[in-house]
Amino acid sequence: MLAYISCLIWLFICVEGVFGAGTDEVKPVSVTEGDSVSLNTDVQVQSKDQILWMFGPRETRIAEIYKKNIDMFDSDVTFGDRLQMDSQTGSLTIRNIRSEHTGLYKLQILSTRGTSYKKFNVTVYAPLPIPIITGDCPSSSSSSSSQYCSLVCSVLNVSDVTLSWYKGMSVLSNISVSDLSISLSLPLDVEYQDKNTYRCVINNPVRNQTTHLDITQLCHTSAEAVHSESVIPSLIYAVLGTTAVALLFFHVRSRQVDKRTCPLAQSGRK
Ligand SMILES: *[C@@H]1O[C@H](CO)[C@@H](O)[C@H](O)[C@H]1NC(C)=O
Ligand SMILES: *[C@@H]1O[C@H](CO)[C@@H](O)[C@H](O)[C@H]1NC(C)=O
Repeated sequence: MLAYISCLIWLFICVEGVFGAGTDEVKPVSVTEGDSVSLNTDVQVQSKDQILWMFGPRETRIAEIYKKNIDMFDSDVTFGDRLQMDSQTGSLTIRNIRSEHTGLYKLQILSTRGTSYKKFNVTVYAPLPIPIITGDCPSSSSSSSSQYCSLVCSVLNVSDVTLSWYKGMSVLSNISVSDLSISLSLPLDVEYQDKNTYRCVINNPVRNQTTHLDITQLCHTSAEAVHSESVIPSLIYAVLGTTAVALLFFHVRSRQVDKRTCPLAQSGRK
């Protein structure tokens, strides 16, 4: 048993010693398309050091500093003029990054102190759209159940995001999507009186976008519709009433016209 444990400890130390020195450690880096990102070496370049950056599954050489000389190889094929290497540190900056620059960036540092490696797993996310809130507001004050507005928060063509409804600081509901680009919508029923405490948030590991619910703004049109519904009947009554009065008037006038053949009354009849 003791031998077994000491064997385990020995194995642990051995494995740690060989692979633990930052060799297999992958640093995740999340960035939004169009932004710049810097992959840091955390060293100062000495005169005889070689610092080499490789990209992708085939570990294509994209940048090197050796004896203080910088070589960018054929990196412009994939990166255009986006790559920049710091001559003091060997750190790599990718400007205006695109989704195709997602992948594994491997760093190799050869110096008199030994060899070390670093890996950066860079994920480039698409910019986030602003969530759109639409809704059905109470259309009539007659029924008590229609005190609620049925809202929907939606975003078009998204991937790797979560869409959430918040009330204050608490999440009421959410929905997530991974790789595929689809449209998301998330419903919510709220009381009409609740004002400006709700918001819809879309987020990915890098960013978020918020739309605050302005229920008075959202329900403006339907509140007007409710208003005009009560206006229409009285308008009809008013028109009918006026017409009736006018008919009576012309009836009386035409009887008079019959007698006097007044040109003013005739033009009024047209
Ligand atoms: C890189 O990150 C992505 C997304 O977070 C993950 O799916 C993938 O497995 C990671 N790859 C490596 C080599 O760590
Ligand atoms: C959204 O991002 C800001 C920083 O940009 C952060 O302060 C805030 O907590 C984030 N909100 C959510 C809901 O993730």
